Amino acid sequence: MKNFQNYINGKWMDSPSGKTHENRNPANWDDLIGLFPLSDKSDVDRAVAAAKEAFETWRLVPAPHRGEIIRKAGDLMTARKEEIAKEMTREMGKVLEETRGDVQEGIDTAYYAAGEGRRMFGVTAPSELANKFNMAVRVPVGVCGMITPWNFPMAIPTWKIFPALVAGNTVVFKPAEDTPKTATTLVEILAEAGVPHGVLNLVHGSGTEVGARIVDHPDVNLISFTGSTEVGLKIAEICGRMGKRLSLEMGGKNAQIVMDDANLDLALEGVLWGAFGTTGQRCTATSRLIVHAAVYDKFLSMLTKKVMTLRVGNGLESNVDVGPLVSETQLNTVSQYVEIGKKEGATVSTGGARETGNGRSKGWFFQPTVLSGVTPTMRVAREEIFGPVLSVIKITSLEEAIRVANNTTYGLSSSIYTQNINNAYVAMRDIKAGITYVNAPTIGAEAHMPFGGVKGTGNGHREGGWTAFEIFTEWKTIYVDYSGKLQRAQIDNES
Ligand code: UN1
Repeated sequence: MKNFQNYINGKWMDSPSGKTHENRNPANWDDLIGLFPLSDKSDVDRAVAAAKEAFETWRLVPAPHRGEIIRKAGDLMTARKEEIAKEMTREMGKVLEETRGDVQEGIDTAYYAAGEGRRMFGVTAPSELANKFNMAVRVPVGVCGMITPWNFPMAIPTWKIFPALVAGNTVVFKPAEDTPKTATTLVEILAEAGVPHGVLNLVHGSGTEVGARIVDHPDVNLISFTGSTEVGLKIAEICGRMGKRLSLEMGGKNAQIVMDDANLDLALEGVLWGAFGTTGQRCTATSRLIVHAAVYDKFLSMLTKKVMTLRVGNGLESNVDVGPLVSETQLNTVSQYVEIGKKEGATVSTGGARETGNGRSKGWFFQPTVLSGVTPTMRVAREEIFGPVLSVIKITSLEEAIRVANNTTYGLSSSIYTQNINNAYVAMRDIKAGITYVNAPTIGAEAHMPFGGVKGTGNGHREGGWTAFEIFTEWKTIYVDYSGKLQRAQIDNES
């Protein structure tokens, strides 16, 4: 059994707190992966001091060179893809095919960010005065605090860390307590790729101790957070008070609409993947299925039959479709929501209980669950569940479908299955979400496109692709006057 450490100023070290926490396999809690530091505020302070100092040299390294280091990290991830995927499944449960996808998303992000090192385009514009040159360039923000979740333990940290580093920032990284091992591997890879000491620092521990200190540390210039709305809004309060730059990616209650003209077989495949992939633990997971009355009974019966055949088990075993939930806490939340749904009058069409048979008694397994007869005002239709539970709602028109889809405080992903191009365009225009899929499920964002949501899901930023660089850079406007005399804007340009 191994004791893992923090990584501060280029050195692996224990926390002076002396406290640790266990990281166990959610498919089999007898399997102890390791002990990780429960760091205290002093670890954060050391990491921030290192990042602050390193910023002064890192910001001067040419961006193409910073990009080369990230490209090398992408190469190392490619070489270790299978090993990292297995480690990730052991750590957080999702099936191997999906953890491979998670690592691939990190690799794609590396190569995109590396290329951006040679772009990061600025703007030039004519001056209103003669012999004067105007431009605006991107500059780094400074020390960035990255607080990341357990459901995409590789992809989401890379969405934040890679563009931030290419842009010339330095980083203090606090991964979720449920996935510290994958985070450790990512940091090892970046160190091996050549990220200099102090530029990237890893501090393990709790949100209340480590996360809170990163957020309120006066020398941390930017916070990028992916996680629950409850925590995100608390962070926003502190950052608001401190005038700190903040990017938030929070919850979702994503809907897939199935119209009466949809290809039902395709819509079925889509909802199975969207609702039960990653055991429903994606911000983008399909949590509501909004079905036209003309096909409701037929589609519900197709769906229920298929969901019953999904195989629940250890994600490292072949032929498993749905892994365990990440923790006992998640399992309890999901069970409670099923009870809430029943009390509200929903019908459990299939699933609804913990799964303990066939050697699954030592894991956090829950049956893939379909709640039918759900109405838009029920809590199971409005609140994020983050598990393998799908609420099915009947509607009678496209307008009603969109109204129901929008009846949530969140706005991350959405989907419509229809063969009618007019329906598709109305949905693309009127669904209030950061992402809309047509004839594809609500999950599956690609690394080079903007990712994020509206309403309670975010605060206006987008990760992924070029938009991530808007989070991690400031604009600097530069005027060069080569006339050799004082020229006053708005005054000397009149003649
Ligand atoms: C998340 O659930 O927070 O689009 C990220 C998707 C993945 C990313 C999900 N590429 O489902």
